[in-house]
Amino acid sequence: MISESHIDSVVRDAFAAEGFANENLRLDHFRRDGAIVSEVLYASCGLKNLSSVHPPLFCSYQLNPALRLSYNGNLHIRDPFCGKGYGAAFVHARERICTELGIDAVVINLCTNPGFWKHMGYGRLGLRPFFGEWKTRTGDMRAKGIYLSVSSRFKRLSVQ
Ligand SMILES: CC(C)(COP(=O)(O)OP(=O)(O)OC[C@H]1O[C@@H](n2cnc3c(N)ncnc32)[C@H](O)[C@@H]1OP(=O)(O)O)[C@@H](O)C(=O)NCCC(=O)NCCS
Repeated sequence: MISESHIDSVVRDAFAAEGFANENLRLDHFRRDGAIVSEVLYASCGLKNLSSVHPPLFCSYQLNPALRLSYNGNLHIRDPFCGKGYGAAFVHARERICTELGIDAVVINLCTNPGFWKHMGYGRLGLRPFFGEWKTRTGDMRAKGIYLSVSSRFKRLSVQ
């Protein structure tokens, strides 16, 4: 099992590489029966108060090395920060973290901006052959709290 401290350092390094300050990161590890079953990362930038529900820049998602999946994400860039590369930087940080942790697929569960996700290399989920593979990997997705919709998108990452 990957250690909690290793995950933390991978996440911090990935955000630092995209120019985000560590003080703006919040990492929460979810446990079941004392073991980490998935890791949830909350990151925001530009606000000191991380408890704010609507910071101007925000992303969060679950990282699950055991399932080799990252899912249930949220990404929002508010004016006047739109169009300055922050959205792409968040997406790149997530992908870097995933490849470091051996996660080879990222699912965008609710895609409200298909043009952006297409631009970032994310395709439709339903038509992909990997979908069957994920079901084998994850068993019952709903039981594991993995949310999908008709708008879902996904990207396959290369992991060494
Ligand atoms: C969609 C969103 C995350 C993009 O973030 P952003 O910081 O404005 O985007 P960036 O400046 O990082 O843009 C990165 C690239 O994507 C492109 N892009 C951005 N929005 C795009 C869109 N709607 N369609 C196509 N391409 C888009 C940019 O032109 C840029 O291209 P480049 O690589 O050639 O420079 C942001 O606008 C947003 O939060 N919108 C509202 C909420 C939302 O739709 N969230 C996503 C679903 S959860």
